Amino acid sequence: MTDATDLRDRALVVRERAHAPYSGFKVGAAIRDEDGAVHLGCNVENVAYPEGTCAEAGAIAAMVAAGGRRIAAAYVVADAPDPVPPCGGCRQKLAEFADADTPVVMATTDGAERRVTVADLLPGAFAADHMGRA
Ligand code: THU
Repeated sequence: MTDATDLRDRALVVRERAHAPYSGFKVGAAIRDEDGAVHLGCNVENVAYPEGTCAEAGAIAAMVAAGGRRIAAAYVVADAPDPVPPCGGCRQKLAEFADADTPVVMATTDGAERRVTVADLLPGAFAADHMGRA
């Protein structure tokens, strides 16, 4: 199994666990960290709608909680006509833990894939060096 296939398979499995009774739109995310460990997330909605969280945010939180520090690759999948791009907030969250050229694959459950980089998703990202920090 290739690394990419592994991320896809695991994102598809975690997508099934999404709590999305309000949108009916389940999303799964799998992140591989700098050590090769894979961390998973799904969207978790709330009846107070703004309190819901995205799949990418869940996967990033799982990575940090497990001790991972950097995103080497990310995979996001949903049952949609076209590969679904991360929302604006998740683009900033991905940029916090990834390099500009870190690959992000957006995919559909049918198998369509679109591969971009974090910089493609968030050109001109606000970053620590804008505050004079390393
Ligand atoms: N959603 C994600 O989890 N990730 C994305 O990349 C796009 C949107 C979720 C949020 C909400 O639960 C549902 O999809 C509809 O917006």
